[in-house]
Amino acid sequence: MALSEARLLDGKVALVTGGGGGIGEGIAELFAAQGARVLIVEVDGERAAQVTESINAAGGAAAVLAADVTDPAVPAAARADVERRFGPLDVLVNNVGDYRPRAGEFATSDPANWDALFQLNVGHILRMTHEFLPGMLARGSGTIINVSSVEGLRGYPPDPVYGAMKAAAVQFTRSLGVQVAGRGVRVNGIAPDVTQSLQVDYARWIPPEQEHLWPSWVPAGRMATATDQAMTALYLASDLSRMIPGLTVPVDGGTVAAGGWYLTSGADGTAPRWTNRPLI
Ligand SMILES: NC(=O)c1ccc[n+]([C@@H]2O[C@H](COP(=O)([O-])OP(=O)(O)OC[C@H]3O[C@@H](n4cnc5c(N)ncnc54)[C@H](O)[C@@H]3O)[C@@H](O)[C@H]2O)c1
Repeated sequence: MALSEARLLDGKVALVTGGGGGIGEGIAELFAAQGARVLIVEVDGERAAQVTESINAAGGAAAVLAADVTDPAVPAAARADVERRFGPLDVLVNNVGDYRPRAGEFATSDPANWDALFQLNVGHILRMTHEFLPGMLARGSGTIINVSSVEGLRGYPPDPVYGAMKAAAVQFTRSLGVQVAGRGVRVNGIAPDVTQSLQVDYARWIPPEQEHLWPSWVPAGRMATATDQAMTALYLASDLSRMIPGLTVPVDGGTVAAGGWYLTSGADGTAPRWTNRPLI
């Protein structure tokens, strides 16, 4: 069969946390279109139900478990639910994460916010993985994809606590990926940047008169979409990446690779050029 005719997740069962919006929604939709039966575990059950209705109307198979993944009781409930509906889990996507509540300036930050950021960005990944990994190891197959951030790969001065949490997700992915690589289970991740979503709402944040500046901000020249993220997650979920364990792929249009380099916009009448001292 030609690759273009193959559905990469035919017969697979997938679970996406936070699949009711943003990047998780894009992942749930693409995985379903590629043949997976998908359980969305989502705090906003009504919004997630719209996603699963659209998937099911298109001939896919998806369902919702309305739940908050920071609740320690949820992973076991999610496993019972997915196994009852679809069978043992093949692909776990730990997508939930947030930069809110911002801890912000560290010297004056509230420790309660550190804990909230930990539970959203790291704790949920540990608990969901701990619930599903033993079954995957027993079957000798499965893939886990953790969604971190470019802010876990570079310094994040607006909020060192959030940066530390996302770096923890990257390091957990790397370490566990190696620990289980020889036992049929692959653990990888994506590190998004600049992706239109509910919590990163560029459609509202960027006024039309600034849109021409995207090539200055992102080497690829535009913001990313949830589908851009989902396509890399699909690669990591499928056998296409069968020799890759423990990797977190920046899906960022080149912002990490560029470091501190920016393309000027030409608004000053000069030809666009690369600079590390942007006046834009
Ligand atoms: N959008 C970006 O540019 C960007 C950049 C870097 C990292 N990320 C990461 O990508 C992931 C997805 O982000 P997004 O921008 O798509 O977010 P989003 O806010 O658009 O979507 C998150 C989804 O998760 C749900 N959710 C939130 N808390 C939950 C909880 N406790 N339990 C269950 N569901 C919950 C929300 O209701 C929503 O449907 C996060 O881990 C985020 O840190 C995003």
